[in-house]
Amino acid sequence: MKTDFDNSLSRIGTLSIKWEKNLNKFGKKDVIPLWIADMDFATPQVITNALSQRLEHPVFGYSFRASEYVDSIINWLLSRHGWQVKASDLLFYPPGTVPALDMLVRLLTEPGDEVIVQVPSYPPLMKVVAKNNRVLVENPLIAAEEGYQMDFEHLERCFTRKTKLLILCSPHNPTGRVWEKNELLKLAELCKENNVTVISDEVHADLIFSNTKHWHFNRLDRNQRPSSISIISSCKTFNIAGLPQSTLICDDESLKRKIQFIIDTSQLNLDGIFSAVATTAGYQSGGEWLDGLLEYLKANRDYLCHRVSEDFVDVSVVPAQGTYLAWLDFRKLELENKVIEQMLIQKAGVGLYNGLEFGKNGRGFFRLNFACPRSILDEALNKLVSVFG
Ligand SMILES: Cc1ncc(COP(=O)(O)O)c(C=O)c1O
Repeated sequence: MKTDFDNSLSRIGTLSIKWEKNLNKFGKKDVIPLWIADMDFATPQVITNALSQRLEHPVFGYSFRASEYVDSIINWLLSRHGWQVKASDLLFYPPGTVPALDMLVRLLTEPGDEVIVQVPSYPPLMKVVAKNNRVLVENPLIAAEEGYQMDFEHLERCFTRKTKLLILCSPHNPTGRVWEKNELLKLAELCKENNVTVISDEVHADLIFSNTKHWHFNRLDRNQRPSSISIISSCKTFNIAGLPQSTLICDDESLKRKIQFIIDTSQLNLDGIFSAVATTAGYQSGGEWLDGLLEYLKANRDYLCHRVSEDFVDVSVVPAQGTYLAWLDFRKLELENKVIEQMLIQKAGVGLYNGLEFGKNGRGFFRLNFACPRSILDEALNKLVSVFG
């Protein structure tokens, strides 16, 4: 059955941060919120059906992990990405990706150790470093006309004796870059030379538009990369961030043992029942829905980019190769982010994610989430044009 992504669902009354926290976030209720990264689309029916079926039994006691759950992940990676992963290389972290990153930073580094993050960056990737009293070392991406590039020369200068970890975001939030294999190989080579472990946050891995291919970091040849972990999740793919889970893929036996110890002692061998049911159903049968979603997102992306280039003055955007995020460039306006933010909220009535939260080189940028029905995107763009057109 074809999903109608044009269908506009009210999310009011569902405790949606995106739709019910405008007053806290923007100081104003009447704002179209296009900031936080979840989608305004219904999750695939295969998932709601599986959840309804489980709800028919009214006991929700401790449950073990079904082999179908593990198989669904392995089969998904093989069928969608062409990557054969061994069950023994999978570790499960039910609280989600950011909690997994937080745990890994504390497990793999000591206070005072240095952790490299490429900026601009999804803010929690920097927060898990700084809040744990590790030293955040920023490796700024280069804003080239055709899209962001990794700065390998600068990266080489970042490494010191204290550098233990690099947290990669792949595909990249907020710029929507899908890193090419040769870029990842270069990054891997430098980290291997400097004995720096790589954690690759790949929660957007399934949201790739045609003509581009995502390479999971751990899929690179073992001899060509350092010790590393790829983290994937069903939360972005199927719009189920409220049903958290994450899967760590790691083939370093010593690292796996350390992570498994934490999982055992924190009793995280148990899954949330609904997260496991939803993830299994999505990975088993959500492929067709995802194909439809990607078509819709790509059309939204193209429409957004077209409107920005035709109707906006001094605002530009490079089309995202993946994710559902647009990194809007307001730098030509030569205004402080807080001034632009006031124009966005007070004049246009559109809530975007302030680029300054993504690191210093987010100055002049705002992130827009285009995973919404076209009617909402259109309304927001019309409002933005009234101020920035
Ligand atoms: C790159 C990235 N990592 C992690 C997350 C959050 O993942 P989780 O909800 O599993 O913690 C997001 C959400 O926007 C994200 O964009």
